[in-house]
Amino acid sequence: MSDELTTGEISVLGRLVDASNATLLGEIESSAGAIKVIYKPIAGERPLWDFPEGDLALREVAAYLVSQALTFGIVPETVLREGPYGLGSVQRWIDTDQEIDIVSIAQSGNSQIQKMALFDVLINNTDRKFGHILPVSENEIYGCDHGLTFHTEDKLRTVLWQFAGSPVPDHLLVNLQRFSSNIESFDLNTYLSDEDLAALVERTSKILEDPLFPFPSEEWPSVPWPPF
Ligand SMILES: Nc1ncnc2c1ncn2[C@@H]1O[C@H](COP(=O)(O)OP(=O)(O)OP(=O)(O)O)[C@@H](O)[C@H]1O
Ligand SMILES: [Mg+2]
Repeated sequence: MSDELTTGEISVLGRLVDASNATLLGEIESSAGAIKVIYKPIAGERPLWDFPEGDLALREVAAYLVSQALTFGIVPETVLREGPYGLGSVQRWIDTDQEIDIVSIAQSGNSQIQKMALFDVLINNTDRKFGHILPVSENEIYGCDHGLTFHTEDKLRTVLWQFAGSPVPDHLLVNLQRFSSNIESFDLNTYLSDEDLAALVERTSKILEDPLFPFPSEEWPSVPWPPF
């Protein structure tokens, strides 16, 4: 993990008005210049009926660690640290290419989008909206907003259903296998409960045993609303 995100002081530049939680745009001074970040203080988390209170920031960091452990590079660098409004997650801001049409790339067979769809199955993402997809180019696509993840019950809710029923490509299964064999070494238990971690292990094993992208459930809403 880089020291740049963890050591410099955070100055808050503003609040993202659309966001439902206190999601703040900030800046951290570093020797390489100012780093733009998204800071989500735990104190600003809005309570939810289906997730424990006060740990969305930890799930944000766990999602980053899983993305790194898989070498998928989907989640921008994310750390847990103190800031002006207390402990929270701090994530590097990604400058996206505004010319890229997010809806069309998100509905295509783009290989980074496919990786993201698999990542969402593993982390049990309940909130993959179009607005949580950050394209820098067609080959470099990040995702954000991973607070509503890692629930023990299946809750996958996403706009990326185009791979449903199709095989997970072998090269991605190699990453999964490596992740699965070393899962204890990624510090995930600092951020996830034993139950959440066990459910992650189970979802990973399930894909390795039956390597197909799942179909949308009929038991819960499988597309986030609104989808943007
Ligand atoms: N690391 C990032 N880089 C660039 N843009 C980001 C990043 N993180 C968030 N954003 C932008 O800020 C918006 C709000 O952030 P985010 O979705 O994480 O907040 P939220 O509080 O969970 O909001 P909501 O509940 O409305 O989804 C995102 O939709 C995205 O456009
Ligand atoms: Mg959001």
